[in-house]
Amino acid sequence: MNHARIQSTGSYLPDSVMENAELEARVDTTDAWIRERTGIARRHIAAPEQTCSDLAQHAALNAIAAAGLQADDIDCLIVATSTPDQVFPSTACRLIERLNIPSGAIAFDVAAACSGFVYALDIAHRFIQTGGAKRALVIGAEVFSRILDWSDRSTCVLFGDGAGAVILEAAPSAGILSTHLHADGRQEPLLNVPWGISQGYENLDGGRGNVSMRGNEVFRVAVRTLGALVDETLAANDLQRGDVDWLVPHQANIRIMSATARQLGLPLERMVSTVEDHGNTSAASIPLALDCAVRDGRIQRGELLLLEAFGAGFTWGSALIRY
Ligand code: ACO
Repeated sequence: MNHARIQSTGSYLPDSVMENAELEARVDTTDAWIRERTGIARRHIAAPEQTCSDLAQHAALNAIAAAGLQADDIDCLIVATSTPDQVFPSTACRLIERLNIPSGAIAFDVAAACSGFVYALDIAHRFIQTGGAKRALVIGAEVFSRILDWSDRSTCVLFGDGAGAVILEAAPSAGILSTHLHADGRQEPLLNVPWGISQGYENLDGGRGNVSMRGNEVFRVAVRTLGALVDETLAANDLQRGDVDWLVPHQANIRIMSATARQLGLPLERMVSTVEDHGNTSAASIPLALDCAVRDGRIQRGELLLLEAFGAGFTWGSALIRY
């Protein structure tokens, strides 16, 4: 089996920033409630003409430049998203042309909601392990602003748009140490977008194409599940609490993230948090946070990172990485 390591990271956020104050004018909420209950102060919103592949393209170019590569060095492209450009071709296939990646590369999208990036990373890792790919571009990109009911205060204050990317390359020693993926569809009513193409356009009435969430119930499942996931990841690698250098969590809620850091035995300074400025960008949130902490110099080569996510499905997953 080959090994794989993260060669570089990249990210992109749309220019337009929506502060909590703007939401106060739209729905019955306050800046204080949003900050206290979620940790979110602002989020970026895509311009009307920007689609998922536009955001993904910027993040990808950023990661390719950081690695000093050309587009034809990439032979596998996976995009994690729940908000693709169109039904088909996949967002990944559309990016092949836009990024000028050679014809014949592997390209497809992965749908696992907020856990999508961890799922995509696991898949890319397996391609490299088995020799099916040498260098994979793994992107999380979302335009959640398009699937929000902007009159529903229980969801519209939570999400934002953005994209993050990593380049995973074959390496002599292991960078990706272990991945742990799980799913269970039994609690789907707690968190969903209850409409899709095969349900028929005639059934798409007001609000049905938007995120619907019983937040408090999701919160409790997320904290419990992520706690068990951290224990599973540590045990699989024969590690103790406190052994990890950085927690790079899915950025849904500062209270969920902090609970996971406590479970890991990490001080909060060792948790990468972008939720204040990005909100929840679903599959984009982990690579966005990772890129921030790599570029500002907090995360250094050789350090041990734990990436984890929980999202609709429910889906959940983690990756332990020697950066
Ligand atoms: N402003 C003011 N009040 C609000 C708002 C708001 N924006 N939203 C809800 N409230 C009210 C509720 O109506 C409720 O009022 P009541 O007590 O009079 O009934 C009160 O605030 C408390 O509501 P809760 O839902 O209990 O608030 P909670 O503390 O649980 O916070 C939140 C809500 C932020 C949604 C939290 O539950 C959460 O983060 N849940 C998990 C989200 C998550 O991790 N999702 C998975 C990933 S997302 C994905 O996969 C797409």
